[in-house]
Amino acid sequence: MTKLIETIREMSDLAQSIRSQGKTIGFIPTMGALHEGHLTLMTQAKNENDVTVASVFVNPLQFGPGEDYESYPRQLDMDFSHAESVGVDYLFHPGVEEMYPTDRQVTLHVGRLASVLEGSKRPGHFDGVVTVVNKLFNIVQPSRAYFGRKDAQQLTIIEAMVNDFNHAIQIVGVDIVREEDGLSKSSRNVYLTIEERQQAVHLYKSLQLARQMIAEGEIKSSVIIDKMTHYLTEQTTGQVDEIAIYHYPALTQADEITDSCFISLAVKFSKARLIDNIMIHKK
Ligand code: PAJ
Repeated sequence: MTKLIETIREMSDLAQSIRSQGKTIGFIPTMGALHEGHLTLMTQAKNENDVTVASVFVNPLQFGPGEDYESYPRQLDMDFSHAESVGVDYLFHPGVEEMYPTDRQVTLHVGRLASVLEGSKRPGHFDGVVTVVNKLFNIVQPSRAYFGRKDAQQLTIIEAMVNDFNHAIQIVGVDIVREEDGLSKSSRNVYLTIEERQQAVHLYKSLQLARQMIAEGEIKSSVIIDKMTHYLTEQTTGQVDEIAIYHYPALTQADEITDSCFISLAVKFSKARLIDNIMIHKK
C-alpha cells in the first residue's frame, strides 16, 4: 500500500524515523505524469533500498516564461496508481505554498555546468532544479536518489551539487527507457500530434546514425552534427533546436570524439520540445 504525504512536516518526521531505525530510503523525485521511465527508476530504488519514496511536484522555479508550467500534465490519481503498482511506499506531493511559502531569501545558482546545452536554452532552469532537489533531499533524507540519463546534464549537475554541498546521498543514474520504436519516454510526448509522434522516431534514429558513423571511424563532431541535422530536417517537421557533442561528465564541447562523450539533441515540435541523447564510450 502506498501512502500519500502532502506536508513537509509529515514527510520529514517519517524520514527521520525510518533512518533512525537504520533503514535505507531510496528516493525518486519527479514532476508526475508518470510513465515507464519513472517507474523503472522506482523499481530500481525498490530493489536497492528498505523504503521507497517518490515525489510528484511540478516545480515552478525550473520553468521559464513562456514554457509549459501551467499546461504541464497533472494527474495525481493516475500517478498514485502507477507508483502503487511498482511498490512505492510513500508518494510525497507537496503544494506550491508548502514548498515555497514566502519570499525566498536565499537562492542556489549553478555555474559553468548550466551555461551549456539545456542550461543555455533555458536560463535559470537548473537553478530551479537544484533548489527544489536540495529542499527535497533535506526533507526526504534519502540514502540513494535515482535520476534518469535522459536528462544527462541534470544528472551531472545533481552530482556536482551533492559533492559541493556534502549531501550524504548516493546518486544513481538510470539508463533511458524508450518506446518500442525508440522514442525516449517523456511526460511531454502527449503534446505531439499523431503525425509528429510518427516523425519523433527519427530523433533516436539520428542518434543511431551518429553511433554508426563513429563505429565506421568518423571522429569529427561537426561532420556528425551536420549529418544529423540534415537527416532530422528531412525526416521531421520539427525544428532542430540543438545538436551537440560534449565530453561527459565534464560537459565541455568535444570537437573530436576521443573519449566518453554524449551526443544530445533537442527538437521543437508544435507544442513539445523533445530531448534525447546517447553516450559514446571510447577508450
Ligand atoms: P521529470 O521530468 O518528471 O523526471 C523525473 C526523473 O525521471 C528524472 O530523473 C528523469 O531523468 C527521469 N526520466 C524521465 N524520462 C525518462 C526515461 N525515458 N528514461 C529514464 N529516465 C527518465 O526531471 C525532473 O522531473 C525534474 O527536473 C526534477 C528532478 C523532479 C526536479 O523538479
